[in-house]
Amino acid sequence: MTSFVQAVYVLAAILFVLSLAGLSRPDAARRGSIFGMVGMGLAVVATLLLSLEQSQREWFVTLLLIALALGIGATVGTWRARRVEMTQMPEMIAMLHSFVGLAAVLVGFNSYLTETHADAVHLVEVFLGVLIGAVTFTGSIVAYLKLSARIKSAPLTLPGRNLLNLGALVASAGLLAWFLASPSLPPLLLMAVVALLLGWHLVASIGGGDMPVVVSMLNSYSGWAAAAAGFMLNNNLLIVTGALVGSSGAILSYIMCKAMNRSFISVILGGFGSEGGTVVASDTEHGEHHETHAAEVAEQLSQARRVIITPGYGMAVAKAQYPVADLVARLRSAGVDVRFGVHPVAGRLPGHMNVLLAEAKVPYDIVLEMDEINDDFADTDVVLVIGANDTVNPAALDDPSSPIAGMPVLEVWNAKQVVVFKRSMATGYAGVQNPLFFRDNTAMLFGDAKAQVANIVHALAAVTEQDGPVAHTP
Ligand code: TAP
Repeated sequence: MTSFVQAVYVLAAILFVLSLAGLSRPDAARRGSIFGMVGMGLAVVATLLLSLEQSQREWFVTLLLIALALGIGATVGTWRARRVEMTQMPEMIAMLHSFVGLAAVLVGFNSYLTETHADAVHLVEVFLGVLIGAVTFTGSIVAYLKLSARIKSAPLTLPGRNLLNLGALVASAGLLAWFLASPSLPPLLLMAVVALLLGWHLVASIGGGDMPVVVSMLNSYSGWAAAAAGFMLNNNLLIVTGALVGSSGAILSYIMCKAMNRSFISVILGGFGSEGGTVVASDTEHGEHHETHAAEVAEQLSQARRVIITPGYGMAVAKAQYPVADLVARLRSAGVDVRFGVHPVAGRLPGHMNVLLAEAKVPYDIVLEMDEINDDFADTDVVLVIGANDTVNPAALDDPSSPIAGMPVLEVWNAKQVVVFKRSMATGYAGVQNPLFFRDNTAMLFGDAKAQVANIVHALAAVTEQDGPVAHTP
């Protein structure tokens, strides 16, 4: 049985690798998900068989206990996943990461208490498993609370916070030495408390704009926590899966840091973020803003040859991707060159905009990354900023004192005309005002993005009916 289970584990591990490969491209993502689901199904069945074989109770009691746990988990998971809005996905992911962390802590304590003849290697596994698990657990809870706006996203800036983090690591190293010298519960329990506080502090001291890195960093931690649990349980597939999640999360964190021009270490230890969530800023500091309306934007679009759309979190909130896709199809059929410029941290989770646009069947080849499109704004007639704010904020480049200073942004202001879709003059996620809104070539189109895009589609149909179809050569 054991060698059969190990063979199934190898197959599942291969499916997980294929799944990750598929998930890296939108056109292969569906296939990637299916590979992942089949791999996980095989893994669960094989582990179930192994547990039944190794169980010291009657097999049906073990089966009943596992079925009960699976049933509760699957029911709660299905209920939550069906109700969750796309915009709430990051908070749900943060919550799920906290479960992985908690599981690693529990497995660690269980492993310590049940393994009577543990060698030094096993003790180190237990210690590291509990440490990583506890940091992941409280860190993910704080991330969940911040992402769901249950607590303020402003960074907690305790005096000497870097020293506090360093102190926690040094204390953990000391406790490890104590634990190895005389394996007992006190050093393990003390370290768990230190690690829980460290996880809480690490994430609490990171501010709004840098939360994308925190989410991917916790994703990575949860992978390492799972790998540590795999070592403790002697489960090869858990080690492989944990390492896959841990390393892919680390790579994602690196990509996020590069996209935001941040040093990974500084984000974790420094707490770069800003002073708070969304605030309504006064217009006086930046001057006057100009308002526009749907009919005027439709008129501008009907005259345009090149249009770029830069979507952001507001497009997701409004679920505006469907009318946006409709607008794009109409403009393209009239010969207008329409493309999308997607910032790496637009929205609230990596690839958020790409998923929404794919859902609305926007062709992949017109959806470009920030680096691919940033030089083209100067040559663009109209830019539609649909629910984006921080990712199009020129202060990131012009104002060294801005909390988002240094973060590369979509340079939409270089276009002839910019239209910003939002409901008010409120700030974006990082809580900083956006000077773009007050530029001469920017017009604000207030209201829900979905309704306003639909109004434009409507007005555009009226314009084309009146003037005949617009014929442009792209
Ligand atoms: P944000 O800066 O979050 O701004 C979104 C804008 O959408 C807001 O200013 C809001 O203005 C507007 N909005 C909200 N609902 C709307 C609706 N129904 N209709 C029209 N507009 C609406 O957006 P962004 O440019 O996408 O930037 C993302 C931010 O989130 C960055 O700071 C990033 O660091 C952070 N973040 C990203 C991630 C990942 S991984 N992508 C994870 C966590 C945090 P009104 O309220 O005035 O309408």
